[in-house]
Amino acid sequence: PKKLRICEAVSSSDMGTNVKVQGWVRSVRHQKQNLFLHVNDGSSLQSLQVVASSQLNHRLLTFGSAVEVSGLLVKSPSRRQEVELQANQIHVVGECNPVDFPFKVKERHDLEYIRQFPHLRCRTNTFSSLLRIRSEATTAIQLYFRDKGYVQVHTPVITSNDCEGAGELFQVEPFFSVPAYLVVSGQLHLEVIAGAFPGVFSFGPTFRAENSQSRRHLAEFFMVEAEISFTQSLEDLMKVMEEMFRSTTEHLLAQCPEDVALFHKHVTPGHNWGCDLQTEHEKYLVKHCGNIPLFVTDYPYTLKPFYARDNLDKPLHTVAAVDLLVPGVGELCGGTLREERLDLLKTRLALAGLDETYRWYLDLRRFGSVPHGGFGMGFERYLQCVLGVDNIRDVIPFPRYSHSCLL
Ligand code: 4AD
Ligand code: MG
Repeated sequence: PKKLRICEAVSSSDMGTNVKVQGWVRSVRHQKQNLFLHVNDGSSLQSLQVVASSQLNHRLLTFGSAVEVSGLLVKSPSRRQEVELQANQIHVVGECNPVDFPFKVKERHDLEYIRQFPHLRCRTNTFSSLLRIRSEATTAIQLYFRDKGYVQVHTPVITSNDCEGAGELFQVEPFFSVPAYLVVSGQLHLEVIAGAFPGVFSFGPTFRAENSQSRRHLAEFFMVEAEISFTQSLEDLMKVMEEMFRSTTEHLLAQCPEDVALFHKHVTPGHNWGCDLQTEHEKYLVKHCGNIPLFVTDYPYTLKPFYARDNLDKPLHTVAAVDLLVPGVGELCGGTLREERLDLLKTRLALAGLDETYRWYLDLRRFGSVPHGGFGMGFERYLQCVLGVDNIRDVIPFPRYSHSCLL
């Protein structure tokens, strides 16, 4: 028999052929003559209905067990699916004791419940959908940047710099000749590469030793970062943020409509906000503007890191920074124009006592420096926003946060 993934089997193009599928049992139903199984293999939200004679020894065919089924793919008499598989052979590859298995057949477990089983939660429809969406969104982001001519850069995970200067560094065991940390942002490395390219981006894990239990903070999260050369205005950055959001979301809705719909139907909560003051401010702003995404620009000089470009021409002492705030999540993207003027940057670094550490960064302004800027988007916050998921721990396969590093 021809081996098919279940998304292929249910699409009915192989009707009338002998096929073999492999997957996990999502439901079992016994009738007098027949035994009905639904088998899912993660290739899509859909399960394939398998019909077998009830003569078959079905003691081991339980919810959650892994099976290999061979048989004839036929048109289904039921209106609920196009095709079904008339099994002539079912092999239970891995048994699953339904009494001990934490998920129960036909029950819709909520995200909070399934979060307790990080090693098993991919067996639920909801988390399986999430993983497909995550994967597809990753592709969509890469396609967006590729189509716009950006070069993807693999920035390091271990670094000797503290990009954001917010004191949220995970220190790495002494090994190098200098203190080293897990990276909080790939920005400074991207800035190095943007010194020779029109646009670059990175997409990788970033780390923050943030002592927060909030529903939108992780200690390890994925960040999409872009750095654009010859950029002189925040408008250019906003345009890229907006286009990237739009293009990624359109791609997702086109490629994973069923998976996204599952979230919108069963998961999306009302906008239930975190409670720290900053989040409250963001909430107010988004609400005040009619519950739509919005940009906030020109932050006070003292609130942003050393690299942010001084708005010398504006009356209040601000920098050219922009955050994108979205309903349900708050800050989704943060970006700035980078200070490219050597004298201003020198002064700022000297004030912070960082001029020695960042000698190489000053060099970037000495040799063929151009105005440039960039931003970072928290990938999990993006997923929270688009899927309406309340807790960030439910949109990443293995969440790490204050006091919790399971598996
Ligand atoms: O605003 P942040 O700190 O900006 C930077 O790190 C810049 N250096 C990025 C750049 O310009 N290249 O972080 C960017 C985004 C935030 O807007 C937020 O979406 C997300 O990263 N983020 C987190 N997501 C989950 N958990 C956390 N602890 C996060 N901290 C930031
Ligand atoms: Mg920020």
